[in-house]
Amino acid sequence: MNFHTRKWVKPEDLNPNGTLFGGSLLRWIDEEAAIYAIVQLGNQRVVTKYISEINFVSASRQGDIIELGITATEFGRTSITLTCQVRNKITRKSILTVEKMVFVNLGEDGLPAPHGKTEITYVKDQFKEDVINE
Ligand SMILES: CC(C)(COP(=O)(O)OP(=O)(O)OC[C@H]1O[C@@H](n2cnc3c(N)ncnc32)[C@H](O)[C@@H]1OP(=O)(O)O)[C@@H](O)C(=O)NCCC(=O)NCCS
Repeated sequence: MNFHTRKWVKPEDLNPNGTLFGGSLLRWIDEEAAIYAIVQLGNQRVVTKYISEINFVSASRQGDIIELGITATEFGRTSITLTCQVRNKITRKSILTVEKMVFVNLGEDGLPAPHGKTEITYVKDQFKEDVINE
């Protein structure tokens, strides 16, 4: 799993306890996972269908840097299943794991549509060589 995304915990992300507000983290996760699904499926019309149980195992504080890792575990007919890990780069602790997030590929009519993908596409295969090297 690659931890491509990093976030800096700022005052506006805190709860009254002075630690990272769960809702802020969930927004980041949902957005990153949606971007991952959009890129993998090659379609911007992708929606969150299901998110499994979330267990916040350690808190983050203002100034901490957290990393989000997302990877695809299953390609269905119209869906893609992802798994997500979030860890604290400063304390080196795990913050949470989301076992399963399901996104559904939609057609222009807003209904589930087959995406035709069966495996992860890597960045090096998505851009032409000269674009990567620029
Ligand atoms: C996404 C939506 C169009 C799917 O409609 P649906 O009637 O459930 O569609 P289907 O039954 O054909 O299922 C579509 C895919 O989702 C999967 N799926 C459906 N319910 C699921 C669940 N509870 N858990 C995991 N996967 C599920 C199906 O297995 C199917 O995948 P596959 O084609 O790869 O086998 C509809 O549920 C919807 O619009 N939901 C709201 C989405 C949304 O607004 N998200 C943002 C929330 S704030």
